Amino acid sequence: MPRTTPPALAPGTMARLPQPDLPAGELRLRPWRPGDRAAVLTGYADPAIRRWHCRSMTDDEARDWIHTWPRRWQHETGAGWAIVDDSGVLGQISLRRLALADALAEVSYWVLPTARGRRIAPRALTALATWCFTTLGLHRIELAHSTANPASCRVAQRAAFTAEGTKRGEGWHADGWHDMHLHARLATDPPTGDPVPQPGHRRRPRT
Ligand SMILES: CC(C)(COP(=O)(O)OP(=O)(O)OC[C@H]1O[C@@H](n2cnc3c(N)ncnc32)[C@H](O)[C@@H]1OP(=O)(O)O)[C@@H](O)C(=O)NCCC(=O)NCCS
Repeated sequence: MPRTTPPALAPGTMARLPQPDLPAGELRLRPWRPGDRAAVLTGYADPAIRRWHCRSMTDDEARDWIHTWPRRWQHETGAGWAIVDDSGVLGQISLRRLALADALAEVSYWVLPTARGRRIAPRALTALATWCFTTLGLHRIELAHSTANPASCRVAQRAAFTAEGTKRGEGWHADGWHDMHLHARLATDPPTGDPVPQPGHRRRPRT
């Protein structure tokens, strides 16, 4: 059945772009590389990442996970970046769902345990949202986290993702159904969260 409105973003809008490197102060978001396998394995060995992302990872699965991102870019179904600094991979951020026709995406992130406490996720999220709105042309980016995950709620707030409500029993986790907080940022929202990060921003990690 034909749509009565044209797609907000035409098919091909993303696939015809190269996947960019995105600067975020001393951090950088860059496409995954085959050599990042060990970092992906380290990530999914962390109980918190396994808990909130609901998956484990073998070495072969880490290879496949890395290989899948260029295909998802070409098919315009998702996009994944490694968050890096001079020391190597610190985490991941991705558009885990993408609907170009609605100019809408959902974002996902994790930070390696050894890198936490430096507001890496909010800074990466701010950089990714800026690119999505200004270059890709998205209108809305959503972020959902379990109500039992307050760190992710702070990440959303820091990156100016407005809390829109609670989706009851929406997240299926190992310990059962979780209520999920929905946050979103629109291209037209003022950037009232953390400003674009300055080089050298660093907080003392929590003990
Ligand atoms: C959520 C996560 C990405 C944040 O990593 P990060 O960028 O290093 O974030 P930080 O440790 O600097 O903390 C960010 C904010 O959350 C707060 N925070 C961290 N842990 C917290 C906790 N257990 N309870 C409450 N607040 C917490 C910090 O104080 C900080 O708030 P502030 O900016 O107001 O000071 C990281 O903890 C992680 O990877 N967790 C496991 C996977 C996950 O939860 N992914 C998201 C799924 S929706």
